[in-house]
Amino acid sequence: MTSDRKPPEFIISGAGIIGPLLANALKARNIPFVILERDTSLEFREKSGWAITLHYALEAFKNLVPKQKMDPLYDSQVRPNFHKSDSGNFKYINASTGEVVVCIPPSSRIRVRREQIRRVLLDGLEVEWDSKVESIDYHDDLVSVTCSNGKQYTGDVLIGCDGSNSITRRLIDPKEGGLYQLPIRFCGARVQLNKEEFDRISNHFDPLLFQGTVPETNTFFWYSALATPEYTKAPDLYYAQVNLSWNVPETDEPFETQEQKANALKKHSQGLSPELSWLVDRAVQNPEELMEIKLCDWEKVDWDDHDGKVLLALDSLHPMTMYRGSACNEGILDVAELVKQLDLHLQGLFSWKDAVANYRNSVQERARQAVLLSRQACLDAHDMSKIKPNSTSPLLSVRKSK
Ligand SMILES: Cc1cc2nc3c(=O)[nH]c(=O)nc-3n(C[C@H](O)[C@H](O)[C@H](O)COP(=O)(O)OP(=O)(O)OC[C@H]3O[C@@H](n4cnc5c(N)ncnc54)[C@H](O)[C@@H]3O)c2cc1C
Ligand SMILES: *[C@@H]1O[C@H](CO)[C@@H](O)[C@H](O)[C@H]1NC(C)=O
Ligand SMILES: *[C@@H]1O[C@H](CO)[C@@H](O)[C@H](O)[C@H]1NC(C)=O
Ligand SMILES: *[C@@H]1O[C@H](CO)[C@@H](O)[C@H](O)[C@H]1NC(C)=O
Repeated sequence: MTSDRKPPEFIISGAGIIGPLLANALKARNIPFVILERDTSLEFREKSGWAITLHYALEAFKNLVPKQKMDPLYDSQVRPNFHKSDSGNFKYINASTGEVVVCIPPSSRIRVRREQIRRVLLDGLEVEWDSKVESIDYHDDLVSVTCSNGKQYTGDVLIGCDGSNSITRRLIDPKEGGLYQLPIRFCGARVQLNKEEFDRISNHFDPLLFQGTVPETNTFFWYSALATPEYTKAPDLYYAQVNLSWNVPETDEPFETQEQKANALKKHSQGLSPELSWLVDRAVQNPEELMEIKLCDWEKVDWDDHDGKVLLALDSLHPMTMYRGSACNEGILDVAELVKQLDLHLQGLFSWKDAVANYRNSVQERARQAVLLSRQACLDAHDMSKIKPNSTSPLLSVRKSK
């Protein structure tokens, strides 16, 4: 670093969730930054939006964003004002019968649409759109990145917030920066419902979300509410998210077309209770909207920070499967830790290098465990023998306590 008291200038790669979250905290401290994003606009990927649950990191999240963004954050909930009377439970069902096998009261939480909190976070911030980071160069005290559009940016710190397939991670760790892929295949879809259908599922199962496994096939099923008329602006228009995932042989071929995904979903929905299988039938009516997600993670959670010049956070640092709903929460804790160390550095307690070392140590210990627990939860979700009351599986234990 040039001078240890001068605030470092940040280059943030990626305007997903965690980059903009960090940017809000930097802005509040008058620390200069630039956000680089490969997409051409905010709207670019919004249709494939999903929802995320903020639970154990909710308080940390609130401390990182300005007060005036709190109301819009609560307005992003998949069900309006749900936090005021959270009537849901964490339910795990026998997906062939719909019977509840495990039911745990949730901790304090809000479930929000990803694209909407992203908008809230980005409000008032500038983003360099269409700026895909391609290479990194180190100078004595500085780091610069070059984007595919030819532009170059120089700063004191580059932080990769560029998602699970992070270019930043792969550039700093070309040998081991790749992902581990689990032998499970996953397809999800946003499904359109009317009021009667939406209410029926809510009343019969849960108003927010529930999941289950088909005992005979070990296929995993997930349902969550995504949008109500308050958001869709049409009286009878609701959306839900439906996911299906199943064990595959190591040699399974990748899908080449959307039709293949639809056929696979159809096939693997066999054995589902009729109360649920119609949701999959509805999903496959629009094959072009099906989204396959590769279930991958990276347990190394370690990187060469080039004397504090390159950092990683959330999915770029500890990509994990979503079977414990903890990824985003862990990423919020990353940002909270980084900002804490930054404050201590600005107060003169640590050099920037030491502040980064503290960040690394804290994140590694916490996140490596989260990656492995999420991997185990993913495997257990496809093994009905693991699903029972008082199970010690990390699939079911997260909701009780962190
Ligand atoms: C279907 C699904 C459901 C999920 N559900 C939950 C949940 O319930 N709870 C939970 O806690 N987490 C959940 N997660 C995980 C959570 O959404 C992610 O962990 C979180 O969004 C990751 O945030 P991020 O900012 O690290 O990355 P992302 O949100 O992936 O954002 C990365 C950004 O970087 C940009 N980018 C990529 N490459 C470059 C480049 N070379 N140059 C510039 N920009 C680049 C991308 O365009 C993107 O905008 C889910 C994830 C998925 C896929
Ligand atoms: C699920 O339901 C089926 C059908 O009633 C039953 O045979 C099976 O034992 C149940 N499995 C579990 C694990 O609850
Ligand atoms: C299923 O999809 C939803 C999108 O709302 C996502 O939040 C969730 O993490 C997914 N869950 C699993 C376990 O597949
Ligand atoms: C689960 O644990 C609780 C408390 O330890 C106990 O009261 C209950 O009987 C257990 N249930 C089963 C099914 O083992």
